[in-house]
Amino acid sequence: MQGMLTRLILVGRATPSLSRAVHSGTRSASSLGLKTKVTSEEVYAREDRYGAHNYHPLPVALERGEGIYVWDVEGRRYYDFLSAYSAVNQGHCHPKIIAALNAQASKLTLTSRAFYHDILGVYEEYITKLFGYDKVLPMNTGVEAGETACKLARKWAYNVKGIPKYQAKIVFAEGNFWGRTMAAISSSTDPSSYEGFGPFMPGFELVPYNDIPALEKALQDPNVAAFMVEPIQGEAGVVVPDQGYLTKVRELCTKHNVLFMADEVQTGLARTGRMLAVDYEAVRPDVVLLGKALSGGVYPVSAVLCDDEVMLTIKPGEHGSTYGGNPLACCVAIAALQVLEEEKLAENAEKMGHILRAELNKLPKDVVTTVRGKGLLNAVVIKETKEYDAWRVCLRLRDNGLLAKPTHGDIIRLAPPLIINEDEVRECVDIIQRTILSF
Ligand SMILES: Cc1ncc(COP(=O)(O)O)c(C=O)c1O
Repeated sequence: MQGMLTRLILVGRATPSLSRAVHSGTRSASSLGLKTKVTSEEVYAREDRYGAHNYHPLPVALERGEGIYVWDVEGRRYYDFLSAYSAVNQGHCHPKIIAALNAQASKLTLTSRAFYHDILGVYEEYITKLFGYDKVLPMNTGVEAGETACKLARKWAYNVKGIPKYQAKIVFAEGNFWGRTMAAISSSTDPSSYEGFGPFMPGFELVPYNDIPALEKALQDPNVAAFMVEPIQGEAGVVVPDQGYLTKVRELCTKHNVLFMADEVQTGLARTGRMLAVDYEAVRPDVVLLGKALSGGVYPVSAVLCDDEVMLTIKPGEHGSTYGGNPLACCVAIAALQVLEEEKLAENAEKMGHILRAELNKLPKDVVTTVRGKGLLNAVVIKETKEYDAWRVCLRLRDNGLLAKPTHGDIIRLAPPLIINEDEVRECVDIIQRTILSF
């Protein structure tokens, strides 16, 4: 089989150097017969010409990553202060996660769920015990975790809560972001997410974020099945709710027999200084959504955790995904979770976050009006002027060796990999300070 695979790869490209590259597993682009030496300008131009224009990337063309650093095609090194939207919590190409990926990749990668495989149950046992839930439903992307949670909420509404057929409602918080599918944008309050894509999914309601009286009012409707909420709103610009908000959410959901579904896709897995951001208030959601760092940025892996009363409402054939729970994903996820624990990344994120915010708070208030966040999920709000805005600050940060991305016009998220140490945080603060003061 291995021989056949190698032969297939080599068909039509049988140069000696290429076959060496394939066998030795050296640079991936060259093993695909691609030109590897390109300039940043060539990278931008090719994407612009052949790719959909659904992103507006910061102009930097990366080709390598290790730990907290990435390098562009010209060999310039940058601190990564985005971490692929908190997917790379464990650092780029973490050796343990890559080793797990490689070991499994040459053994068995995909069976589909038509058959059992030997790793899925191991992973399911590991992750459910780690987070203290009866069951897990494995998917791939974060938005699929959201879709899964919504489907579970509706099934539970009809089969357990007794809501009349197809009357179930799910409440979301304004400013939420959980992806780009039709359901996800149907709950969005951001026009750039939903404008032009209607008609929208029915049965979704909105309340302001961090507003307990509004939530209490909404939950009085007996047809409400669930409240899905981010413990900190990431894409909205790292919006941290008041202390006690999640406790109140828990109380209200319990009182009204509504599922509390915590979207921890961005906040979870040590990012905010706890394994889950809800741990700060020691509340237990009924449903937890994980993604992003569940693979350490190596592979799309997401998961929904809940107890049997909710999970077992979905029966065989009613939900799934060809790739969900595949052997490669399971191995990568186990390794990624082990790294979080072994390297005490939640503790480090909490400590480094305190240092980062304390230093950022020393920046001139007429430029940086707000510094907020928890652990290593942070944002600064930039006061826009004619000379600068968040985009221009990010361009100059790039020139000074640090990559960050504006979330909205005036907000820059600062979220490095959680393996960053104190010296590195201080060096990065120097870069940020120097950059801001240069305007
Ligand atoms: C809180 C939250 N949920 C869900 C998602 C969707 O994840 P994905 O892009 O993997 O579909 C995101 C992505 O940024 C997110 O921040």
